Amino acid sequence: MEIIIANKSHAGYAQYICDTIAESAKVRGTGIAKRTPEYVITKMENGNAVIALDGEKFAGFCYIEAWGHGKFVANSGLIVHPDFRGSGLARQIKEAIFKHSREKYPDAKVFGITTGPAVMKINSDLGYRPVTFSDLTDDPNFWKGCQTCRNYDILQRTEQKMCLCTGMLYDPAKEEKKKAAGAVKEEEKKMNPKAFTRLKSIKEHLFLKKDKKKDE
Ligand SMILES: CC(C)(COP(=O)(O)OP(=O)(O)OC[C@H]1O[C@@H](n2cnc3c(N)ncnc32)[C@H](O)[C@@H]1OP(=O)(O)O)[C@@H](O)C(=O)NCCC(=O)NCCS
Repeated sequence: MEIIIANKSHAGYAQYICDTIAESAKVRGTGIAKRTPEYVITKMENGNAVIALDGEKFAGFCYIEAWGHGKFVANSGLIVHPDFRGSGLARQIKEAIFKHSREKYPDAKVFGITTGPAVMKINSDLGYRPVTFSDLTDDPNFWKGCQTCRNYDILQRTEQKMCLCTGMLYDPAKEEKKKAAGAVKEEEKKMNPKAFTRLKSIKEHLFLKKDKKKDE
């Protein structure tokens, strides 16, 4: 398996990547921001994406987005092809894109929003902390991405304060300081994935129950 920074020679995979993302969201029954092949190709051309290939076969992908004039970067669009799941590939891709983000944008805060327990676990192992949406970028273009998600009405209803996704943030200044002070014990950093699953079901209960009532 090869995990590399994508470039324009990988443009031929863009449509397949978008289809795999859309198909997986359908299977999971969750909301997701839609991506176009043209957008994915731009990420490849700008050296802002990581692709995993098994020979010629597409295995996984993730890309970087810069927001708020480079104050924030998001690692988005993580996808592992169903044939390659469950063997640690998402973790390797996230580690690669995180390292690349830190090298390319050393002063930026790195964040993501997700409903996926696997992603929350990987993020927390990388040093991300769960935060409220107000700690994330207020760049309207980032939040515009949520308009294509089927849960967008929740985000609107809460005036962008919360949604089914959990926001997670790596703040380099804070983490470096803590590291220097030896304040973060490895075990403290790791969060129990069961807690994430519970958080997700509480949110679904709160938000989606309200939706049902509204429909009645
Ligand atoms: C989510 C996804 C990327 C995971 O890919 P993967 O290669 O199977 O994940 P990994 O094997 O690297 O697993 C990463 C960690 O998450 C854990 N994990 C995996 N699925 C999990 C789940 N449903 N609940 C809790 N933890 C889970 C794994 O045990 C592993 O932890 P460990 O390394 O401590 O054992 C993949 O299933 C996928 O592409 N799904 C569809 C798209 C998607 O959901 N993208 C994320 C959008 S934010």
